[in-house]
Amino acid sequence: MKRVLVVYYSQTGQLQRLARALCAPLEAAGVAVDWCELRPLRPYPFPWPFLRFFDQFPEAVHLDPPALEPLAVPADARHDLVILAYTVWFLSPSPPVNAFLQSAAGRQLLRDTPVVTLIGCRNMWLLAQEIVKGKLAEAGARLSDNIVLADSGASLTTFITTPRWLLTGRRDAFWGLPAAGLGDTQIAGAARFGVALAAALRDGRLDGRAPVLRGLGAAQADMRLLPSEKIGRRSFQIWGRLIRALGPQGSAARKPALLVYAAFLVTMILTVVPLTMLLRAALRPLAARRLRAQKDYFEQPSGSGTERLAARGP
Ligand SMILES: Cc1cc2nc3c(=O)[nH]c(=O)nc-3n(C[C@H](O)[C@H](O)[C@H](O)COP(=O)(O)O)c2cc1C
Repeated sequence: MKRVLVVYYSQTGQLQRLARALCAPLEAAGVAVDWCELRPLRPYPFPWPFLRFFDQFPEAVHLDPPALEPLAVPADARHDLVILAYTVWFLSPSPPVNAFLQSAAGRQLLRDTPVVTLIGCRNMWLLAQEIVKGKLAEAGARLSDNIVLADSGASLTTFITTPRWLLTGRRDAFWGLPAAGLGDTQIAGAARFGVALAAALRDGRLDGRAPVLRGLGAAQADMRLLPSEKIGRRSFQIWGRLIRALGPQGSAARKPALLVYAAFLVTMILTVVPLTMLLRAALRPLAARRLRAQKDYFEQPSGSGTERLAARGP
């Protein structure tokens, strides 16, 4: 019997629903699925108080691992596949997932094992996946595929709807803007990956040496967002270093700097992001080949092609 381990951390349950939709076909095919929810010793709040939300970014970006409760699976358990389901926090893997990747038990579970990463986020995941790829390689895991589900709204729309959701808990449509987060159809559609993974496991093709999810529209990289991610990450790192030096998370000494940075960040997002996107759009014809190569790189291993979807018919 094939065994799959799903490691995940989900605040609202959205990523958990996604992982469950993906795994339903595996379970139906008789694959044993072990669920390992990551539990921080100090749970994060939801919805987020405003300053508490911003107080997370220095540690998230500098990859300081929060303490986790012991894992629900023994570290020496072996699996045919690990599905690492994560969300993105401040352009980095969410801290509990980062803590798992850095822990001795996590590394032992990942060693010599094929891994599929499953990302459910707003839309900025390119640099977070670079970090995760590095940590998986350090642990001796083999990245087989990457699946990304990003909120379908336009960037400027989700810039309003996602923070509203995270800071108030309300994700419904309002003022003509769509609901925040992933749609039900997107989540239900993740079952196609489970079907393909079940077939690959059955045929012995899932060894982490070649992707098994190509042609299923697994990861669509939006290159227009890369410059903003790079600038954002740089700024998070510089300000994060400064704020970490002021005191530990939650300390009063950090509050003024966090308020200034929050204002700076919102201004940046409203100015730098649209500007770099416009500039990119103007330069696109000149840089078409480089952008194509970058897009191919970030979409590895699974790619954004959808040829197997068309082949499945109605
Ligand atoms: C503190 C924090 C920071 C976030 N930063 C990002 C980000 O940089 N990029 C992104 O695409 N989504 C970001 N998100 C949204 C999450 O990736 C995710 O979509 C949302 O938190 C819902 O996930 P859940 O399954 O944990 O409820 C952030 C969320 C939180 C809580």
